Amino acid sequence: MTGVLPSPTSTPDIEFATRDRISALQLERMQWSLQHAYANVPHYRRAFDAVGVHPSDLKDLADLAKFPFTTKKELRENYPFGMLAVPQSEVSRIHASSGTTGWPTVVGYTANDIENWADLVARSLRAGGVKPSDKVHVAYGYGLFTGGLGAHYGAERLGCTVIPMSGGMTDRQIQLITDFRPDAILVTPSYMLTIADAMIAKGIDPATTSLRVGVFGAEPWTEQMRKEIEHILEMDAVDIYGLSEVMGPGVAMECVETKDGPHIWEDHCYPEIIDPVTGAVLPDGAAGELVFTSLTKEAMPIVRYRTRDLTRLLPGTARTMRRMQKVTGRTDDMIILRGVNLFPTQIEELILAVPVLAPQFQCVLERTGRLDMLTIRVEARPGVPGDQHSVASESLRELIKNRIGVTVAVDVMAPAALERSVGKAHRLIDNRPEG
Ligand code: DLL
Repeated sequence: MTGVLPSPTSTPDIEFATRDRISALQLERMQWSLQHAYANVPHYRRAFDAVGVHPSDLKDLADLAKFPFTTKKELRENYPFGMLAVPQSEVSRIHASSGTTGWPTVVGYTANDIENWADLVARSLRAGGVKPSDKVHVAYGYGLFTGGLGAHYGAERLGCTVIPMSGGMTDRQIQLITDFRPDAILVTPSYMLTIADAMIAKGIDPATTSLRVGVFGAEPWTEQMRKEIEHILEMDAVDIYGLSEVMGPGVAMECVETKDGPHIWEDHCYPEIIDPVTGAVLPDGAAGELVFTSLTKEAMPIVRYRTRDLTRLLPGTARTMRRMQKVTGRTDDMIILRGVNLFPTQIEELILAVPVLAPQFQCVLERTGRLDMLTIRVEARPGVPGDQHSVASESLRELIKNRIGVTVAVDVMAPAALERSVGKAHRLIDNRPEG
């Protein structure tokens, strides 16, 4: 194809804009977004009025702290379409979260929203090392989940050849990876491991595939897991972050040249870190809960959405926009065991420090009498003799006791004993009685 269209492959200068330019753009867009939400979404009008703030009170970015938070509760109360700021005829697409507890959370996009989203995913993929002519295997689920279609539109926008495989059918995944020879794969890190295990079981060495880069997200994963995946698959493993309430995948993306945590695309999504208990805004560098305000979304503007994801804001490196530290956990995944807080990611890190253990694991919480007990069910690596299981179990127990400070039970299981998820892994199983 010939023509004068600007090449989507060149790095747009906004990714390298000065902080002053980014802040000025954010302020202008935030004023628009708050006004749009207030004028068109009854919930925001009521919530702003209730605390006596008006969009015109936003004179600089710090004034955002005067505005009320939005949580999943408000989205549920306005189920299904109450948070939309445009008439349904202007909504091009609906996505929804799985809704494991109660109703699903519904989100909507105008045609412009879809355009911006595709641009941001294209920007993300390029930052992650995907190139315009690459073949991209999308193994995020297609459908109401934002992963599949979000990745798909972004990869097309970048100029890639997209293979819309979706999640599941592991044998088929392997066949297509072998036959189509994709350059990049977009998938949850836990499902990537499942695919790699299945390759090994078929006698295929995962390091020999054509895959050069893996764009992994939708669930927390650790630096140790990055090393594991990069070793087994001989590829670059980069982190893509996002959530449906704010957009979907592509809210933030790690650059392949630094691999130092995702850069937040701050020209569209404004981040804050708050103390999850008091709600106070914390300075950059402090750990807390990530909160987002959308700056350009038309169909469903979102104001100070509490993600429940725990991280910290860090200065830009490969790009001028700020980074977030790799998400260590969600407030709702936090296990409080006899007064100690811990997250499944901490367990993942320690499992990967025991050479005979595989990063396929579950944290099972049970209650005996008045005492909570945590059992780590973890698979041994293939080929590890059964008599080594108890040694491995003891090593992990000791590591957890020394590093995290809690006593847990460890149940080492045979390879492939644990149920695999084809999307987000379910690490935490809470079998405690309710109440
Ligand atoms: O998981 C969007 C997505 C799809 C992101 C594909 C990346 C790749 P939700 O289903 O709404 O959307 O879930 C959002 O998943 O609040 C985090 O808790 C978690 N999450 C997403 N990306 C990451 C990541 C998609 N890179 C929720 N690291 C978020 C850690 C992540 N957690």
